[in-house]
Amino acid sequence: MATYVTSPESSSATPKRGSDVVRFGIVGYGYWGPKVVRNLEHLPNAEVMTLCDLKVAARKRAHKDYPQVEIVSDPAEVLTSPEIDAIAVVTPVWTHYELAKAALENGKHVFVEKPFTSNTAQAQELIELAEKKNLKIMVDHTFLFTPAVRKIHELLSENTLGRLYYYDSMRVNLGLFQHDINVIWDLAPHDLSIMDHLISERPEAIVATGQSHLNGLEDIAFITLYFPDKLVAHVNVNWLSPVKIRTTLIGGEKKMLVWNDQAVDEELKVYDKGVTVTSPEGVYNLLVNYRSGDMWAPRLERAEALTRELTYFVDCVLKDENPMNDGKAGLRVVQMLEATTKSISQRGALVYL
Ligand SMILES: NC(=O)c1ccc[n+]([C@@H]2O[C@H](COP(=O)([O-])OP(=O)(O)OC[C@H]3O[C@@H](n4cnc5c(N)ncnc54)[C@H](O)[C@@H]3O)[C@@H](O)[C@H]2O)c1
Repeated sequence: MATYVTSPESSSATPKRGSDVVRFGIVGYGYWGPKVVRNLEHLPNAEVMTLCDLKVAARKRAHKDYPQVEIVSDPAEVLTSPEIDAIAVVTPVWTHYELAKAALENGKHVFVEKPFTSNTAQAQELIELAEKKNLKIMVDHTFLFTPAVRKIHELLSENTLGRLYYYDSMRVNLGLFQHDINVIWDLAPHDLSIMDHLISERPEAIVATGQSHLNGLEDIAFITLYFPDKLVAHVNVNWLSPVKIRTTLIGGEKKMLVWNDQAVDEELKVYDKGVTVTSPEGVYNLLVNYRSGDMWAPRLERAEALTRELTYFVDCVLKDENPMNDGKAGLRVVQMLEATTKSISQRGALVYL
């Protein structure tokens, strides 16, 4: 991995706080990079200054899409440019640490893709560096900004579901196989970051099982997370499923909800269903009442999550505020991913967080 230089000129350049525009350099113009750029281009307080990719084909595409924007092949040009306030790191995970570190060392704020880093030590180092330099890190946990997750967050904050019993999330499809990371590091950051955002308690331990059938990297995994107060969470990620499923169930004492991210409408349904134990004198005498009330599908706003997220990033930079999906949130996800990997390597050992 290349080591990027620190330009004395740009490291001393203070970000444009007080100004009302954040000037961006984007590193990585593969699949996700163009979506980040398209959204930034539409924000009144953001300006895309330079796009960078190592690949000729990606640079050609970038030039065709944005002929007015400077396109470069060397990341150091973006990372050290005194014209740039913030770097969007939209490259594979194993490059995030080096690129984000160089960006911070050069006095730039960082918007970095999920998962934040390849391990917790890297994440901790970046958090400390950003704090020392008073710079922002935002980890792209895009789903937190979807209308459904925002609504679920509102419902949980209002205690609509009551005490939580379980969180159960399924993210399965056929492929797309990644060459550098397994299905856990590819798909589970979504589920784990959503769960981390929605549930204020932190999990205490993880048990995970999984298997690699094709290229030596796990292509299927079952992750169980134990929380205090008997709340249990489960995440199933799988690249070998014949159908695509994106469903989350959250069960509480008062209500339960189902979020089907693929539903065309009524994506989120809240059920007034539950169970009450009426005689506590032991299993054989147990009397339970099943409550089966109404189902309610809350109306969800129509908004692109990435637009909302990048607007929020620009606001945080301009107002010098810490984002909710900061480096620490990114670190918590990386901690869970690491613990999952460790548990799988020991065929489902209990790993404390
Ligand atoms: N938030 C989301 O929902 C979401 C969705 C898809 C991907 N992602 C994340 O985005 C990142 C990129 O994923 P992708 O699918 O776009 O990958 P990709 O392979 O399609 O694109 C990555 C691009 O980065 C370039 N690149 C790699 N190293 C570079 C470097 N040092 N300097 C400049 N360019 C470099 C590559 O040439 C490539 O064009 C990953 O971390 C992935 O997890 C996030």
